[in-house]
Amino acid sequence: MLLVANWKMAPDTLLEALMLAKETSAVAKKNKIPFVVCPPYIYMLALQKKVALLGAQAVSPYIDMPHTGEIHAKMLQKAGVAYAIVGHSERRHVFFENNTIIQQAVVHLIEKKITPIICVGEQTRDNKGAYLDFVKEQITSAIMLLQKTKIKDVVFAYEPVWAIGKAATRPASVEECREMVIFIRKTVADIAGDKVAAKLQVLYGGSVDEDNAKSFLVDGGADGLLVGRVSTDIKKCIKLIQSI
Ligand code: PGA
Repeated sequence: MLLVANWKMAPDTLLEALMLAKETSAVAKKNKIPFVVCPPYIYMLALQKKVALLGAQAVSPYIDMPHTGEIHAKMLQKAGVAYAIVGHSERRHVFFENNTIIQQAVVHLIEKKITPIICVGEQTRDNKGAYLDFVKEQITSAIMLLQKTKIKDVVFAYEPVWAIGKAATRPASVEECREMVIFIRKTVADIAGDKVAAKLQVLYGGSVDEDNAKSFLVDGGADGLLVGRVSTDIKKCIKLIQSI
């Protein structure tokens, strides 16, 4: 079980960030839920000792290059970061994080012993199953440069683009979630074998809230959740943690 809070560009001030981290982390700790907080970079060092597990929302695919505005895996490691989200759909679309960039980021993170949380998910669904091929390509290419023995060290998050953020049409149904959790596991099994696939953590993300969170874990077969909007609302986030 893994609960990941993706704060995106919130909150506006460090004071609010400290409060949000403190209140939500305390409830997660009390309920023995591994809780990864992925704050904006600007709050990261201030939260280092305030959260159980620190995560990054993104990472540069390069280590030894001068890239304005970027943060690389070595820096994250030194800052005590344990997890990093890779290939979030907002970054794939707005910042052109493509499959090649993602596979390089994954390699650097694994080298630095940071667990990549690789986001995959289709933009739309069709009746012929083209969305499955699309997601399969995302999965396969993200782990393509890894040695087979290292594939066990990644986490996948199924995040259908149509279910994410304010523009979401709806969350995935538990059936849709379960189908994709199985599909991701099967795709990884074909590459790295059944043992690795059986232990793989597959999360669900996209309009997860305090009312539906538990159903993705119980009926949707997800091993955890990646939560955006609700993770920055103290009351709702606490309710969500308590619900699971
Ligand atoms: P949401 O975002 O929970 O606000 O839909 C999820 C995500 O982008 O990871």
